[in-house]
Amino acid sequence: MKTETTIQGLSASLSPARTARKMIGFVPTMGNLHEGHLNLVREARKLCDTVVVSIFVNPIQFGPNEDFDSYPRTLEQDQRLLAEAGCDIVFAPTVEQMYGNKPRLTNISVGGITNDLCGLQRPGHFDGVAVVVTKLFNIVQPNFAFFGQKDYQQLAVIRQFVRDLNIPLEVIGVPIARATDGLALSSRNGYLSAENRAIAPAIYQSLKVAEQQLLAGTVLSEVLQNIKSALTDAGFVVDYVEARTTELQNIEQFDADMVLFIAAKLGATRLIDNLQVKYPAS
Ligand code: PAJ
Repeated sequence: MKTETTIQGLSASLSPARTARKMIGFVPTMGNLHEGHLNLVREARKLCDTVVVSIFVNPIQFGPNEDFDSYPRTLEQDQRLLAEAGCDIVFAPTVEQMYGNKPRLTNISVGGITNDLCGLQRPGHFDGVAVVVTKLFNIVQPNFAFFGQKDYQQLAVIRQFVRDLNIPLEVIGVPIARATDGLALSSRNGYLSAENRAIAPAIYQSLKVAEQQLLAGTVLSEVLQNIKSALTDAGFVVDYVEARTTELQNIEQFDADMVLFIAAKLGATRLIDNLQVKYPAS
């Protein structure tokens, strides 16, 4: 496995694969890798000849009061894990390599679906994601790109601009990887105190209870309220508990497949999760 830190170095490393028309799979990450990321790499390994993983903590997707400076940077450990998972090339550029020292005057802003859920709490976040992912797509030029359903709204945003801008690659969504107690794996779980780590699985538990209630006929508004109460009682500060269609449109009642979304804080740590609830086939 090679590690490249420059765009030129990466191009040189990828050149034989491009010439031989190999299928290139790409997994963008911010590092501090866990099984959720590694599942994406394994999926890429299955479908592609050459697997590229980027590790880049992207400053422009963090808000001024967010954790850009303290975001965990663990490159050596990540390299070990990636070698084991079958990655061929790690791309770990500096901020200067990605953004240069002249001002960036171009933005990529996806409308509609970003004015909702995490987009309301984190203004500018999805623009920052769209810009960096587009830049990475142009640098790597993959055939397939892999993203986790953990960040369901992010995946939808990426699918949207790839379609809108005719970016020539296929986006693959990969299911959420969870700890044995149900907590969705996240680099931010490492911020949790032992006490809060023990409480955190309540998010997934509340989603599973909600699924049961919906299937048993409880009305959607009541189910959402039940999640909020359960999380507040467990010690969370709830950012949102919402239901949307799988295409992120509003849904008033459980009359089609839908996704339940939660963002909630435990101490200073903001956790997100979601669960798709299938409308029973009649
Ligand atoms: P990061 O949070 O490092 O996540 C990288 C990829 O791993 C994303 O596609 C994310 O959805 C996926 N992922 C994280 N935890 C997961 C889990 N428990 N199960 C399944 N997939 C999981 O998301 C980003 O980085 C950045 O916004 C990025 C796309 C790299 C742009 O900077």
